[in-house]
Amino acid sequence: MATTPVWVLFVLLSVSLAEEVQLNYKPATKPVRLFTEEELQRYDGSEEGQPIYMAIKGVVFDVSKGKEFYGKDASYNALVGKDSTRAVAKMSLNPADLTSDTTGLTEEQLQSLDSVFEGTYKAKYPIVGYTAARLLNADGSPKKDFKPEAQPHFQTRDEF
Ligand code: HEM
Repeated sequence: MATTPVWVLFVLLSVSLAEEVQLNYKPATKPVRLFTEEELQRYDGSEEGQPIYMAIKGVVFDVSKGKEFYGKDASYNALVGKDSTRAVAKMSLNPADLTSDTTGLTEEQLQSLDSVFEGTYKAKYPIVGYTAARLLNADGSPKKDFKPEAQPHFQTRDEF
């Protein structure tokens, strides 16, 4: 019986190690993307099988696993497919509050917003991106004070 040359064993071992490394490779953070208002609107839960997204303070969360809250005809469906910062801060489903506008919110409402952002959304749902308004000024230039959520000690109120 012919013995297998050592170099063949070496090549086989290298290939299997390379596969192992590739299979186990996971990027440290998932890539995120930028959403225009129109893009975000496509993920409003109206189409069965499509992911459901909503933004708070310009951070886009994939809330698909909360379909019982956010899906078509569910109680909080009005919040999805858009940035609902004001509604969440005020715990209101009034159509006038379905906006990213934080003008005139009280300290108590801002605190409540932070706690829902941290305790519910960041804890429960993956971040898939940011709204264009969060990163860019109206003229398209980048906002210098942008702080990604991955940054330690990030607080939504830092940017008010
Ligand atoms: C009578 C009024 C309301 C009651 C009884 C109520 C009840 C609840 C309950 C029981 C939960 C937790 C569900 C769970 O984790 O299984 C919840 C979650 C939540 N509620 Fe309400 N709610 C009310 C009004 C509102 C309003 C007006 C808003 C407007 C923004 C709101 C926004 C939310 C949000 C964002 C969550 C988190 C859902 C998630 O985990 O993704 N709620 N509510």
